[in-house]
Amino acid sequence: MRSPAVPAPGVYRRSGIHGAALRRGYEACRRATRATGEIEYAVSLLLPPPLRTATWALYGAVRAVDDLSDAAGPAGEADPGRAARLEAWISAFDTDLREGRGSDPVRRALIHTMLTWNLPPGFLHTLFEELRQDADGRQFATWQEWRHYNSLINTPLVLRASSLLLRATGLSTEPEAIAAGVPDVAVACQTAVEAVYLTDALVDLSDDLGRGHVPLPQEALDEAGVRRADLLARRTTPAFEELVRRLADRARTWLDRTPPPPALHPAVGVALGAYTDLYRLRLKAAAAAPAALLHRRPALPRGARLRLLLPARAKAALAWGLFPFPVRPGPPEPAPTTTPEGPGRAEGAHLPASGPRPAVAPTPHPSGARPPRLPGEATPRHVAIVMDGNGRWATARGLPRTDGHRRGAEALVDVVHGALEIGLEYLTVYAFSTENWKRPAAELQALMYEIPQIVRHLVDENLDVRVRWAGARSRLPADVVEQLLRFERLTRDRTGLTLTMCVNYGGRAEITAAAATLAREAAAGKADPGAVSEHAFAQYLYVPELPDVDLLLRTGGDHRTSNFLPWQATYAELLFLDTPWPEADRRDLWDAMGQYARRTRRYGSVPRVVAQAAAP
Ligand code: IPE
Ligand code: IPE
Ligand code: MG
Repeated sequence: MRSPAVPAPGVYRRSGIHGAALRRGYEACRRATRATGEIEYAVSLLLPPPLRTATWALYGAVRAVDDLSDAAGPAGEADPGRAARLEAWISAFDTDLREGRGSDPVRRALIHTMLTWNLPPGFLHTLFEELRQDADGRQFATWQEWRHYNSLINTPLVLRASSLLLRATGLSTEPEAIAAGVPDVAVACQTAVEAVYLTDALVDLSDDLGRGHVPLPQEALDEAGVRRADLLARRTTPAFEELVRRLADRARTWLDRTPPPPALHPAVGVALGAYTDLYRLRLKAAAAAPAALLHRRPALPRGARLRLLLPARAKAALAWGLFPFPVRPGPPEPAPTTTPEGPGRAEGAHLPASGPRPAVAPTPHPSGARPPRLPGEATPRHVAIVMDGNGRWATARGLPRTDGHRRGAEALVDVVHGALEIGLEYLTVYAFSTENWKRPAAELQALMYEIPQIVRHLVDENLDVRVRWAGARSRLPADVVEQLLRFERLTRDRTGLTLTMCVNYGGRAEITAAAATLAREAAAGKADPGAVSEHAFAQYLYVPELPDVDLLLRTGGDHRTSNFLPWQATYAELLFLDTPWPEADRRDLWDAMGQYARRTRRYGSVPRVVAQAAAP
């Protein structure tokens, strides 16, 4: 059985992939999968078109990024060009994902798959982080380190693939949820991942050595009496050959120990069975000629491969015929006549067919209070708030601190309505600082739940609010990142208030990250150090379009800014209120804006003299 060189266009049509540019992206991913993942590609052909194309996008894109990041040169030296390319790819991916588009073919297909299947981007970011570290050439001292690496990089990827397969059974549960509830499943999954990646470490040995990497833990080499230098010089020894046989045995035992996952679509069961059988075949081929592994990757024996795949294909086709694939991915894209490659088309999978709904007006405050009229030139454009005092408010009432955060969320909703009523352009709120990770786990958990919930509430209310997120990804749970990016996408066409949620925000972290990106671009020749101005630098901040803060308000009685917006608020008027945040509402915002209107801002100049009194 030969893999078809070019898939019938029907595969893409039946996957809801229409635009020519998008198809090119999927084609690039398919080719990368076929070239680098012989087994994955063969198994993808056992899946129905929507799952097949999604597999190509996930696998192919990861291989494309991985290729960029194999940063050690032949002599094991770091190649800064590759690290810079990786960084550029990741940062373009972030921008593209925010905007729901793809500015190169592979990213286009990957983002299309993520949006179509609503996959959380968190696992890719973990992967990117690890690839960044790989840029110096990864070495594992112990099996424990090797396992940790797998659990960070490979397990999440396998879980995402499993999540797609689970959907073929009609289950909407995520594999993580099953694994969390059934510890045996979690262990089985980890064991399977380790079996697969140990096998790959053996079969990819020659490629890795070519880049100066030894993909096996030093501990394993030491125990077997294998010298690293011999491996790098591709010298075989009896100890090395014995090590390969032992590792192949170990991987085979792990594979045999993995029970088939329960409750699967019969065709998915066939595909997974074929996958493990092909890995057994691969192990056999590796163990049969250990010395050859130092020079080339072993091919799967053609005859055995066919004996395995032909019946699997027939069985899978029969099973898909009897139990058709139950899920349709997102609705087909709009006709390619309108902006065929334009941004945001993939988001169509999530917006109602009729397009975004018109925004609704803010609801008035229950007291009947109306916003004051402020003189135009004295109205702040950008108000930033440190929403502080939730915990103390709750403690003073004998309530858990988390109740304070819940009430604080309600206060924010009211303040947003008030900001719309008074016509404020930018409201930026400090919801969680980089320093707040020092809090107890239960409080962190509550905040990580509460924060996306408030934003979801505001988005669902369908107000004229454009949501932006300012903050660092690291340490934020993947689903929180996913939701914040999604809310940004869903509201990007709103023109009323821009609400910037500072979540995992630290002012110094923001400036440092901007400086690091700029430095990387300068090193790569993409930015001119001589042209760095304040304006140019600000383009690297989390939300570049954010104007200077006019009024910075802090509730809760403390008089400090706690690492909030140091770049943007250098000339802000400061106002500190004793009111704890849960007790604040839109009237406090309006009052504060009124006070602002009465202040004189000089920006370093001398006060304007309105009229000179005549000398007596
Ligand atoms: C502000 O309230 C909300 C966050 C920092 C997340 P706090 O939780 O800091 O409340 P206090 O300052 O302890 O009262
Ligand atoms: C600032 O409040 C951060 C937020 C409101 C999210 P904190 O309560 O964390 O600040 P400190 O610790 O009192 O400075
Ligand atoms: Mg506080």
